[in-house]
Amino acid sequence: MKYHWAIRLLHWVIGAAVLCMILAGFLMTHYMQAPAKYNVYFFHKATGVTILFFMIIRVVTRLFTKAPPMPQQLSCFEKLAAKSVHFALYFVVIATAASGYIMSCASGKAISWFGLFYVPFAVGQSKELAQDAHNMHEILPYILLILIVLHIAASLKHFIFDKINLLKRII
Ligand code: HEM
Ligand code: HEM
Repeated sequence: MKYHWAIRLLHWVIGAAVLCMILAGFLMTHYMQAPAKYNVYFFHKATGVTILFFMIIRVVTRLFTKAPPMPQQLSCFEKLAAKSVHFALYFVVIATAASGYIMSCASGKAISWFGLFYVPFAVGQSKELAQDAHNMHEILPYILLILIVLHIAASLKHFIFDKINLLKRII
């Protein structure tokens, strides 16, 4: 049994986008100079709100569809660890994207969706809120990176050492 087709599709689309976003966010903030830096900001913000939107669809789909049961070969600890990391991944992806979105809204900076329209603001301008969201957006992407490394390492460990192919549940 596999995850619902929409979960499988969103897993790879969001997964690839999140990895690119962490790299782009890191480079644009610490290494790039204007004007190239602001071009990357433009795509980073548009892609980030798209990830947030896709995550809402993913959570709703996940809540209303059946996940395949965990393989019997996994120990109770492994099942619990997998479920906890999956839950944390959902939570931290949403929190990372939401903190970026709130940071931009609260500092009054328009978010253009790839030049097609402006994304409505979720909150009014507030220096304190913008600062808090900014502080969170400096930490959350790197917590997310740690979770992703754990997640990929665990799936490779099961595939290579335990000969349990979990990938076929998600492709
Ligand atoms: C090369 C990269 C990746 C591989 C090989 C991979 C592999 C997998 C596999 C095998 C599963 C199924 C686990 C199960 O049996 O239940 C899974 C599920 C999951 N993966 Fe990944 N993954 C990758 C990247 C990512 C990234 C970047 C994220 C987060 C941004 C992510 C988030 C999740 C989540 C949340 C689930 C739980 C499924 C759900 O309930 O929607 N994965 N992944
Ligand atoms: C899952 C989605 C997202 C990821 C993984 C992500 C990742 C990152 C990373 C790694 C940084 C660099 C942090 C640092 O080292 O200081 C960053 C900065 C930034 N992000 Fe995001 N981001 C996401 C969503 C968003 C969204 C939705 C927005 C706004 C609409 C946004 C706006 C920004 C801005 C403006 C900065 C630069 C902050 C500064 O100049 O200090 N991000 N992001």
